[in-house]
Amino acid sequence: MSLPGTQLLYRQARPFLKWAGGKSQLIEQIAAHLPAELKQGRLRRYAEPFVGGGAMFFYVAQNYRFDSFLIVDANEELILAYRTIKRDVRKVIERLKEMQTNYGALSTAGRQEYFYAVRSRFNEMLPKISYNRFDESWIERTAQIVFLNRTCFNGLFRVNSKGEFNVPFGRYKNPAIRAEENLLEVSDLFQRTEIRLEDFAKCDDFVTGDTFVYFDPPYRPISKTSNFTSYSKYDLDENAHLQSATFVELMLKRHRGRLRKRPERSWVTQRRAA
Ligand SMILES: C[S@@+](CC[C@H](N)C(=O)[O-])C[C@H]1O[C@@H](n2cnc3c(N)ncnc32)[C@H](O)[C@@H]1O
Repeated sequence: MSLPGTQLLYRQARPFLKWAGGKSQLIEQIAAHLPAELKQGRLRRYAEPFVGGGAMFFYVAQNYRFDSFLIVDANEELILAYRTIKRDVRKVIERLKEMQTNYGALSTAGRQEYFYAVRSRFNEMLPKISYNRFDESWIERTAQIVFLNRTCFNGLFRVNSKGEFNVPFGRYKNPAIRAEENLLEVSDLFQRTEIRLEDFAKCDDFVTGDTFVYFDPPYRPISKTSNFTSYSKYDLDENAHLQSATFVELMLKRHRGRLRKRPERSWVTQRRAA
């Protein structure tokens, strides 16, 4: 039975960070495969163990009624931003408004300088941030993450192996830095969302028979030279890919086959046999 007042739709909540491997462009195609039970309202809980920018999470929250949500990722900066938007969205919006005004008033050269100054501050703060306990510095850091994501080249969030943001300046005419209405609605949705910084395999405690799990792990590189796994310092190596396949199978057994499988069967079978 669902709790009163918990079955809202979040029509305006959209991803606010562009993310490597993000599925926003493919969402309608993926959504065409959503199970009938979800459309009939029989799945009450939603879990996403590799949430990234959350294209599917926001899509289902816009279109289907769930009692509760769980989102998980191993990227500290992403989860820090999500938790801050949950906790203190208004302060983040204020800071983004200031950034938008200051940045918008500058010439291209001035914007470039501003961008690299924000990037340097972001990287300098790295050793001082505590990712597990909220403090006021999270507000500035979240504003920096959104700002860098909107103004950097290709609009992605990418860090090097030391966790430093290393994407260069992008020349956009009018980047929408503050996106106030969206952030407010996202924050509302987050009030009903558990947000965890942890390994995907730990989220099975949340998953019950009426949970829909959407599972979009980092890609396994198709060759040694094509490495698409640089989402965070915690890339999935071959063992972790095998572990993710095992995790999906475990969920399938435990939860009556309601999950959709993605790991490439032939690769998994071959690796296990090796
Ligand atoms: C393909 S992306 C997900 C993209 C997402 N579906 C979207 O629409 O933006 C994979 C995500 O898995 C995260 N990740 C990598 N290793 C992880 C792990 N061991 N546990 C949880 N998340 C992990 C990455 O940080 C990245 O955000």
